Amino acid sequence: MYLHLRRICLLLAVTSSSSPALAADAGHGADLAKRWCASCHVVANGQTQASADVPSFAAVARRPDFNPEKLAFFLLDPHPKMPNFPLSRTEAGDIAAYIGSLRP
Ligand code: HEC
Repeated sequence: MYLHLRRICLLLAVTSSSSPALAADAGHGADLAKRWCASCHVVANGQTQASADVPSFAAVARRPDFNPEKLAFFLLDPHPKMPNFPLSRTEAGDIAAYIGSLRP
């Protein structure tokens, strides 16, 4: 009985986006990426305009060493060639989850 309840709680935690520690929301990440990143990166299939020498998110996701936690961390750190984004930890995690969802 106790174990069963625990499992339900875990399920709720994973599916609810209001639980910031666990749940990264790839759908929200997609929205953020389209708003903040699409001027330079190809963020989604079918996007026709972006900077030529910037890796697409699909290409980032295909790398063998891709890791959503590392990526979220990278996004929180100011990047020399990228403008500084006002991303929260949760938002960085959501974007990383979205890029992870592009992995083949
Ligand atoms: C003003 C243009 C610009 C915007 C906007 C931008 N980027 Fe970038 N991004 C770049 C450039 C240029 C590079 C390549 C940097 C390099 O080669 O050192 C890069 C590199 C990256 C990389 C690393 C790719 C690699 O080679 O490892 C990631 C991940 C990334 N961007 C994610 C994002 C995300 C997520 C956003 C939106 C929150 C974003 N970028 C918005 C210009 C931009």
